[in-house]
Amino acid sequence: MPHINLKKDEFHWWFTHSDQIQNTALIKAYHQMINAEEEERRVKFRFERHRHQHLVTRALVRTTLSHYVNDIAPQNWKFVKNQYGRPDICPSMNLPSLKFNLSHTENLICCGVCLDNEMGVDVENVERISATLDISKRFFSANEYTDLLKVPKHLQKQYFFYYWTLKEAYIKAKGKGIHIPLDQFSYDLKTKDKISVNFDASLGDDPQDWQFMLINIDQKYRSALAINRGKTENMKVDIREVVPLDSEKDLNYRIIAQ
Ligand SMILES: CC(C)(COP(=O)(O)OP(=O)(O)OC[C@H]1O[C@@H](n2cnc3c(N)ncnc32)[C@H](O)[C@@H]1OP(=O)(O)O)[C@@H](O)C(=O)NCCC(=O)NCCS
Repeated sequence: MPHINLKKDEFHWWFTHSDQIQNTALIKAYHQMINAEEEERRVKFRFERHRHQHLVTRALVRTTLSHYVNDIAPQNWKFVKNQYGRPDICPSMNLPSLKFNLSHTENLICCGVCLDNEMGVDVENVERISATLDISKRFFSANEYTDLLKVPKHLQKQYFFYYWTLKEAYIKAKGKGIHIPLDQFSYDLKTKDKISVNFDASLGDDPQDWQFMLINIDQKYRSALAINRGKTENMKVDIREVVPLDSEKDLNYRIIAQ
């Protein structure tokens, strides 16, 4: 089995600002690493900015994975999707422990990577949605909605996105997406810097097994992580900004709670 440059207690969170990638040589190189199915999906997007985002997403996941397994080139990764659409590394690559999850919003893409654990990430552009209370009333748990109403008005939108990204991160970690009813688990963000969760018995999950994190990436983006690390210490989280095939640096983010 190929060697993986990642420790069991590490979670790596890679971000890329896709709108900042305009270098034609890089874009050409990204085109050369995607497969026919990815290209087929790419050309179906109506707008160029979405085709670009799709291309950069593929480049991000492929180059990120090659970062951990040096002898597999970005163009050689193969993926499979589960019945709910979650892509994972194809079993034929013989890397069952290497896990990743992707999220993208207007101009920002993230890819989380860890070993073995169920994990999901979400990133959202806070300028995208305004009907926050209507959406939360419809989709969040009753407690989350009630708590959100108590948040001072000027912070409500910010908190809405904290709940939203955390909820998305959990359903993505489970791999089932919106097939998990969003009111069957409920976050409590009332204690400063701390994220607590309650799961409906039907989900069969223990809050003690889960680690969550919320970060702000400038004014425009909120991002969340959910990871089922079991009864071990919290994972070490490393957050980086990258331009696939080019540069890597520390991202300017702020941890809100975990
Ligand atoms: C599909 C879903 C998993 C994520 O949707 P999203 O938030 O629109 O999209 P994101 O950018 O965060 O994630 C998309 C990526 O997640 C991955 N993904 C797809 N299905 C997935 C699943 N079942 N589980 C985990 N990851 C999945 C894919 O890599 C996908 O990107 P790709 O198609 O470019 O490969 C699902 O949760 C969904 O449809 N959500 C709808 C939003 C909603 O109603 N949210 C209510 C919030 S409270």
